[in-house]
Amino acid sequence: MSIKPTYILAIESSCDDTSAAIMANNKVLSNIVARQDIHEEYGGVVPELASRAHQQNIVPVVDVALKKAGITKEQLDGIAFTQGPGLMGSLLVGGSFSKSLALALDIPLIAVNHMHAHILCHFIDEENFDKPEFPFLALTISGGHTQIVQVNSFFDLKILGETTDDAVGEAFDKTAKILGFPYPGGPLIDKFAKEGNPKAFSFTKPKVDGLNFSFSGLKTQILYFIQKQVAANPNFIEENKADICASIQHTIINILMDKLKLAVKETGIKQIAIGGGVSANSGIRQALKDAEKKYGWKAFIPKFEYTTDNAAMIGIVGYYRFKESKFADSTTVSKARIEF
Ligand code: KG4
Ligand code: ZN
Repeated sequence: MSIKPTYILAIESSCDDTSAAIMANNKVLSNIVARQDIHEEYGGVVPELASRAHQQNIVPVVDVALKKAGITKEQLDGIAFTQGPGLMGSLLVGGSFSKSLALALDIPLIAVNHMHAHILCHFIDEENFDKPEFPFLALTISGGHTQIVQVNSFFDLKILGETTDDAVGEAFDKTAKILGFPYPGGPLIDKFAKEGNPKAFSFTKPKVDGLNFSFSGLKTQILYFIQKQVAANPNFIEENKADICASIQHTIINILMDKLKLAVKETGIKQIAIGGGVSANSGIRQALKDAEKKYGWKAFIPKFEYTTDNAAMIGIVGYYRFKESKFADSTTVSKARIEF
């Protein structure tokens, strides 16, 4: 007789993607993401528009996730949702929806930290993807966060360092904006960088103590550099697009790798897992593969669909919390800022 798996519906609505996933234990049955293109014309996420779009999308997205998974809502064992961090209006849509449905179905509600999910996405069961062993170091790089976290167990996580200003995704997106690229520009920098010379232009790396990061100075440096070059040659960006992108990406990756090397030195831990939207970047993926050979690290690089915001990563945390009965009660509130 086969044992029925635990079915969890997971909801992610922390920023501008509305996502719903169905998990059967640690396997993903469906992972639906509705992106909000509306923000592109504003050059960044407009919180008010994001929450409105979540409200429009959430029911259809959950419906599709259930249909694609081939189960009904009555078969669900629990509902996991992103409690924070994120935009308050966006979080409230996913949080209120999840609470109401959990109450209606009389099943447990599970509150998930979005950054915890970016880290534990490595535990989603996928063919050809190894799972890290504890302890490991996680580098979470997204549009809102940049952290190095020591992960001792599923629920024992310690932040070793983080950004003191912009997140690395913002560094990509803001410099992309300077170059006239649409939002979000990170993937475009990655695309053009592939054809360019990473050493064509050099930018100085910020001096930040310990394992913390800073990216706002780099953005200003790039802005002044571009302004100066464009004043001398109005076609500078167009003529050097690939080299500029490759040089910016090279500098950002060097900053991240320098800190990772320091973290490995300080902790003696050589297993590195990356997560968050910027972990889709081909340069950081290659740098980690090179580090495996060069420094004897073991790198864990997520499947593309689990890098940018998605509900499957919320679902895997939901599954581990469910197993330990770490449930939220009906008075749980969404939080723009939240600790592990
Ligand atoms: O994790 P995520 O989807 O949302 C947050 O939690 O913030 O990350 C979005 C960020 C954006 O800044 C986007 O430009 C960046 O991830 N990103 C990339 C790439 N793909 C997404 N940055 C550089 N290279 C990429 N290929
Ligand atoms: Zn994220």
